[in-house]
Amino acid sequence: MPESEFVLRELDEEGVLLATLNRPDKKNAFHEPQWDAFADCLNEAREDPRVAVVVLTGAGGNFSSGVDLGSFGGDPPPPRKDGKKSGFFAAVDAIFEFDKPLLASVQGVAVGGGCTIAVASDIVYVGESLRMRLPFANLGLVPEIASSYTLQTVVGRQRANELMFTAEWIDAARALDLGLCARALPDDEVLAATMEKAREIAQWPVSSLRAIKQTLQATHKGAIEAARQIEDELMMKLAGSPENIEAVTAFMQKRKPDFKQFRK
Ligand code: COA
Repeated sequence: MPESEFVLRELDEEGVLLATLNRPDKKNAFHEPQWDAFADCLNEAREDPRVAVVVLTGAGGNFSSGVDLGSFGGDPPPPRKDGKKSGFFAAVDAIFEFDKPLLASVQGVAVGGGCTIAVASDIVYVGESLRMRLPFANLGLVPEIASSYTLQTVVGRQRANELMFTAEWIDAARALDLGLCARALPDDEVLAATMEKAREIAQWPVSSLRAIKQTLQATHKGAIEAARQIEDELMMKLAGSPENIEAVTAFMQKRKPDFKQFRK
């Protein structure tokens, strides 16, 4: 499949770009080409004067199951010839550099990156089938995409700590209660409702939307940078650790991980 097909793009006449994560057989898990397609999509939408708002969604009834665990921990991809970042790091830059409203229509699986991308979005609507999780403790890892900070701004420190340390599952009602989404809707209504809200926003001048986003984000910028730095540092340390290998192997073998073996 050509790289661009991992994120399908559809621009309507109102200036709303619908970006669909498209790897449904893997619940839209991000491997390297999909991270690249995602970064390209956001970077090009930022520069495209026809685009006022982006709506993210996932194909096949799921948002995303996050990083592709099948490719996790392998050799990093070779650096790009143009010296630019690629893969995950390029995508995270693109998320935080995206300066227009970013809406997310989330149903089914939203795990790992699928959850943290939603948390980094400006407005989230969820479907009743939502299965959301911050699975970093159970993978022997740390949070990513600045979620160690952004989650606290969304749900508060106590609830963020609870969700991060337990890696518990979050359904649509809980997501609404926690403030992880603005609305919870039946699955067959969530994308239409998100698109309707996006078109309502897209009627306004892009210069104003950009400026509003700049003001809303101004006080968070430094904290997001600091969060990304410590997350990346600790992720490099823990990825490939015995605990992480046990977690990923257990997932591939469709069994429960045994972390008690590391306490002897
Ligand atoms: N990486 C790679 N493959 C993944 C994946 C991921 N993150 N998430 C799902 N898949 C694959 C499964 O291996 C399975 O492939 P198969 O059909 O070849 O066996 C397929 O997608 C369907 O997933 P499955 O696990 O059968 O669906 P489910 O509804 O029972 O569970 C999840 C869905 C998302 C709860 C479960 O797949 C899961 O926990 N995935 C890992 C999520 C995760 O930890 N992501 C990393 C974040 S850092």
